[in-house]
Amino acid sequence: MRWLVTGGVGFIGTNLVTHLVETGNDVVIIDDMSRIGVDLNAKFLKEKLGIKPNKIDVSRNDDLLTFFRTQSKFDVIAHLAGQVSLLESINDPMRDFAINAQGTLNILNHIRMTSDETIVLGMSSNKLYGDLNKIRFSETDTRYVATEWPNGFNESLPLDFHGPYGCSKGVADQYLADFSRTYGLRTASLRQSSVYGPHQHPRSDQGWVTHLVTEAINGREIQLNGIGKQVRDLLHAVDLAKLFVLLAENVQAFSTHQLNVGGGQSNSLSILELFSRLEQTLGIKVMFKTGPERPSDQKVFISDNSAVTALTGWQPEINLDFGLSQLVESVQSKKHTV
Ligand SMILES: NC(=O)c1ccc[n+]([C@@H]2O[C@H](COP(=O)([O-])OP(=O)(O)OC[C@H]3O[C@@H](n4cnc5c(N)ncnc54)[C@H](O)[C@@H]3O)[C@@H](O)[C@H]2O)c1
Repeated sequence: MRWLVTGGVGFIGTNLVTHLVETGNDVVIIDDMSRIGVDLNAKFLKEKLGIKPNKIDVSRNDDLLTFFRTQSKFDVIAHLAGQVSLLESINDPMRDFAINAQGTLNILNHIRMTSDETIVLGMSSNKLYGDLNKIRFSETDTRYVATEWPNGFNESLPLDFHGPYGCSKGVADQYLADFSRTYGLRTASLRQSSVYGPHQHPRSDQGWVTHLVTEAINGREIQLNGIGKQVRDLLHAVDLAKLFVLLAENVQAFSTHQLNVGGGQSNSLSILELFSRLEQTLGIKVMFKTGPERPSDQKVFISDNSAVTALTGWQPEINLDFGLSQLVESVQSKKHTV
């Protein structure tokens, strides 16, 4: 199949492009190269797969249309290009909207007018569900627990966009669904929480697992937002890449595929539990200070993957033990360079 991957030299993009090429697909990348560290991913993709990104900003419709005119039709677009940080979105909500909301509409509208058989798969966020403060949580020594949701959260949670990032991702999610409902495009929007794996260049406000593992291994004291009992279900980027392929085979026209996607209950982890795993396996002492919670931070997000599994048969295959040891090994190999 012929794929376009936007944001293709980003973290998830690099893993997806690698998987697609290794399984025999033809892949074209666009990316504006704005994320720090992606030049390393671009180098990796060029050396390993011989692919170079086209430098294009998805918020600039004219540039996008000029690019599409040079291309034959795509079977699938994986639209990963995005402004990824809540804090950045608070600093500059206009730019956040231009990239996440307008950028998604630019792509959908072009596909609607020129190539309505092209499938469009977009990345949304668990932030669409707001701070979840109406949910009842209990507390163990190491984590918060959403006692009434033993299988994780499904898509029946009410939408409650928080922060400019939540709004722009929410708009994109709604457009993806509506362009199927109104125009019959085949689309899906993944309501995604924490992805981890190789090729991530973390910041303190995005890519928390890789960030915390890096800080801990480098012996730096970590300032936490909250008391470290926040829980996420970690999804390995290679599992996510496999899901994209299955979605391309299964999404239907005139259907709204807005899907919670994550590592699920068995791959859930709190910050304190991450620290204790690192201390046990590496024999180090993780130094940290607790602090006030970040506004709108969810105490728990664990995805109930039932809907995406029913549609595609997909389930995460890479467990935390493997994924975290791979991550630790990769961070150790770069120790003191990051
Ligand atoms: N990583 C996660 O845990 C996670 C969770 C939820 C949602 N997502 C979403 O998944 C997508 C990919 O995330 P990621 O973790 O790979 O982030 P990333 O920052 O590594 O990748 C995003 C890529 O988009 C590019 N980009 C940014 N603005 C652009 C623009 N205007 N035009 C073209 N390219 C642009 C960046 O240079 C980068 O290569 C994003 O949309 C993100 O919001 C990620």
